[in-house]
Amino acid sequence: VRTAAIVPAAGRGERLGSGLPKALRLLAGRPLLVHAVQALVAARHVDLVVVAAPPGETSAVRDLLLPYGTDSELQVIGGGMTRQDSVRRALAVLPPDVDVVLVHDAARPLAPSELVDAVAQSVRDGRAAVVPGVPVADTIKQVDDTERVQATLARSALRAVQTPQGFRREVLERAHAAAGAEIHTDDAGLAERLGVSVYVVPGSDEAFKVTRPLDLALAETVLSRRREGG
Ligand code: CTP
Ligand code: MG
Repeated sequence: VRTAAIVPAAGRGERLGSGLPKALRLLAGRPLLVHAVQALVAARHVDLVVVAAPPGETSAVRDLLLPYGTDSELQVIGGGMTRQDSVRRALAVLPPDVDVVLVHDAARPLAPSELVDAVAQSVRDGRAAVVPGVPVADTIKQVDDTERVQATLARSALRAVQTPQGFRREVLERAHAAAGAEIHTDDAGLAERLGVSVYVVPGSDEAFKVTRPLDLALAETVLSRRREGG
């Protein structure tokens, strides 16, 4: 089984601020993207990594990632206008012998390699679509466009899902082809739309997404704790 990991990294990082594309923001001196790619390369099951770079940054990103893999292990392409578009472009360049595809956000720099392997293993074991998920801490309410609460969802049945999300290649390709212009915030959402059964496996507290400035501070803390072996 050949497994490829697609890394959407072409976002602008507007909620984080600063103007620099989020994937290139530094965490302990290295770009978020480098951390994410290192975890993928270190995973046992990942044979190829394809990064969708921010517009205009493709060759800079290629240079940045040079130390982390050979041309046959690591490829950089230009990303698209939306995350979905970025993933679709990466899917289009996968070699024919890849049969399992993981999709992992550059914005989740600290997702452990063990999590990457657990998701890949679950797809290899026969699931068509697998997402890591964790219980939600907050109570989630559904509101209308006036902020009037419509419903309170039963928290015990909710999961906050992370990446890497794993798919049989054919399922992910079919999901993206069927989506057309309809935008989803994750790849599993596209598969659900086709009626594919998507399964949740235990996620990791460290696979959180760096979205706002406070998340970057948390990431720095997680890294220094790891360095102290804690
Ligand atoms: N992404 C992408 N191409 C886009 C938009 C997003 O590859 N056109 C990637 C981001 O680089 C990120 C992941 O999708 O790794 C998750 O997106 P998000 O956290 O929303 O990142 P940004 O879009 O960069 O942030 P913001 O929405 O705050 O601008
Ligand atoms: Mg975004």
